[in-house]
Amino acid sequence: MTRWYAERKRDHYYKEAKKQGYRARSAFKLLQIQNRYRVLKKGCIVIDLGASPGGWSQIAAKYASVVVAVDLQPMKPLDKVIFVKGDITKDEIIEKIGEHIDEADVVISDASPNITGNYTMDQARSVWLCENALKIAKHFLRDGGNFVCKIFEGEDYPAFLEKVRKNFRMVKAHSPQASRKQSSEIYIIAKGFRRDFII
Ligand SMILES: C[S@@+](CC[C@H](N)C(=O)[O-])C[C@H]1O[C@@H](n2cnc3c(N)ncnc32)[C@H](O)[C@@H]1O
Repeated sequence: MTRWYAERKRDHYYKEAKKQGYRARSAFKLLQIQNRYRVLKKGCIVIDLGASPGGWSQIAAKYASVVVAVDLQPMKPLDKVIFVKGDITKDEIIEKIGEHIDEADVVISDASPNITGNYTMDQARSVWLCENALKIAKHFLRDGGNFVCKIFEGEDYPAFLEKVRKNFRMVKAHSPQASRKQSSEIYIIAKGFRRDFII
């Protein structure tokens, strides 16, 4: 794909997000994941990590009974969404989320590190966010629950994917159409959490 075409496509999702009232173009990534993998079910309880400004929470709230959204940055209120300001890499986040829910059906994470331009460092930070998202998922998910996590492809990616495979019955790596073509981001889709088999 040419750079021109990639930019036009990005622009297309940006305009579409504005038109449809989504807070971020990334909402389309979760929509595309949902259309393909059906990770969200009616009435489910969702934890949305790295949630601000709220595009994914908007999509999740269409299905969920409640969404607990976590981010370092503030987020404007949304119907059915409880916002928790905090760092997903800190232990106390489990307690903060636990003030609102005991368990969840789905954990989604679109958390991204601040991009430094040093890819090795950015990738390592992305994996660190994913490790923490998985830890939160393992704490809260019910048996059979689902997990979606954005990761930057690179050196540490295969080992992380393997870890996810051990804890879920079905695991796929997916690049949504709405991701920029040049981007190295991948979404791990994991279904069927094995509560009895936590590693
Ligand atoms: C790509 S944005 C998420 C967009 C969001 N999914 C949406 O649809 O609106 C990535 C988010 O990850 C958050 N983030 C990065 N590191 C974090 C951390 N350690 N704890 C919590 N949030 C974090 C950033 O503040 C940022 O808002």
